[in-house]
Amino acid sequence: MTAVRIVEVGPRDGLQNEPAPLALEARIALIDRLSATGLASIEAGAFVSPKWVPQMAGTAEVLAGISRRPGVAYPVLVPNETGLDAALAAGAGEIAVFAAASESFSRKNINCSIAESLTRFRPVLSRALAAGVKVRGYVSCVLGCPYEGRVESGAVARVAAELAALGCYEISLGDTIGVGTPRQAADMVRRVARDVPVSRLAVHFHDTYGQALANILACLEAGVGVVDSAVAGLGGCPYAKGASGNVATEDVLYMLAGLGHDTGVDLDAVAGIGGWISALLGRANSSRAGRALLARSQ
Ligand code: HMG
Ligand code: MG
Repeated sequence: MTAVRIVEVGPRDGLQNEPAPLALEARIALIDRLSATGLASIEAGAFVSPKWVPQMAGTAEVLAGISRRPGVAYPVLVPNETGLDAALAAGAGEIAVFAAASESFSRKNINCSIAESLTRFRPVLSRALAAGVKVRGYVSCVLGCPYEGRVESGAVARVAAELAALGCYEISLGDTIGVGTPRQAADMVRRVARDVPVSRLAVHFHDTYGQALANILACLEAGVGVVDSAVAGLGGCPYAKGASGNVATEDVLYMLAGLGHDTGVDLDAVAGIGGWISALLGRANSSRAGRALLARSQ
């Protein structure tokens, strides 16, 4: 069966919405534990304004503190050239820029219009690529916006195509508030794939309405081969009220294993980390598969 790549976003998306910032040592330990499970891409933090997202302050220290494993990428979010300067100084090998398919969300999240964000990203991309740093792109609100409601797939495709044209090697399509359902998700992917090859698309589901796994399955059937997820289903976006955690990495791995897809990731090891980080954060483990595996091993 085909290989599916997982992008673990727990240390960034998972922690950016926690009520209290997690200690740097714990953020470092989380990344190092995840990198020992076979995960090849682990989002390590964000060089954004600490006034906007205090939970991601200290990302430079996190990058300095982790034990970088060969073959593992540690992308960090970058919204502008200030963030790029910090990411380059911290030795980041990969960054991710993030745009939105809805104007209102773009303004709330990064304080500018979609067009302005793309203008900002141009020098970020050219400088990053010139420095040998890979760039991933996100499009948020691909199936709904907390401020505008329904989002047209044509708008998603336009932003995705612009990010691809700027040089993003992959575009992650984010259902930021987790409102999508499978047929909508697959139709949206097919629409975007008319403008950006499906081999360059990833999907990023939040699980607010319990649809994330079903949506992922529909998108895999539409040809997507890269899935973002967060250990223990951590996550949310501070600028998307009501958005719950990301789909849990453990649940995605369990489903993919059952479907016969190869991920190269040790599910039991990820489940152990999910139990550990949930206890550390004093929150319930949102992964159904993780809870089941941990209960079985007790
Ligand atoms: P702004 O206030 O418009 O920025 O914020 P500014 O350029 O006017 O600068 C104001 C101050 O911020 C200045 O400092 C700058 O130096 C500083 P001062 O002179 O006042 O002392 N500043 C920065 N500091 C650190 N790092 C930077 C930076 N840039 C400026 N990079 C800005 C604009 C983009 C900075 C702000 O809106 C921001 O940081 N937003 C980030 C929001 C965020 O991180 N959201 C969560 C991630 S997106 C997400 O979760 C969705 C995703 O998961 C996919 C999905 O689910 O759909 C990716
Ligand atoms: Mg997200």
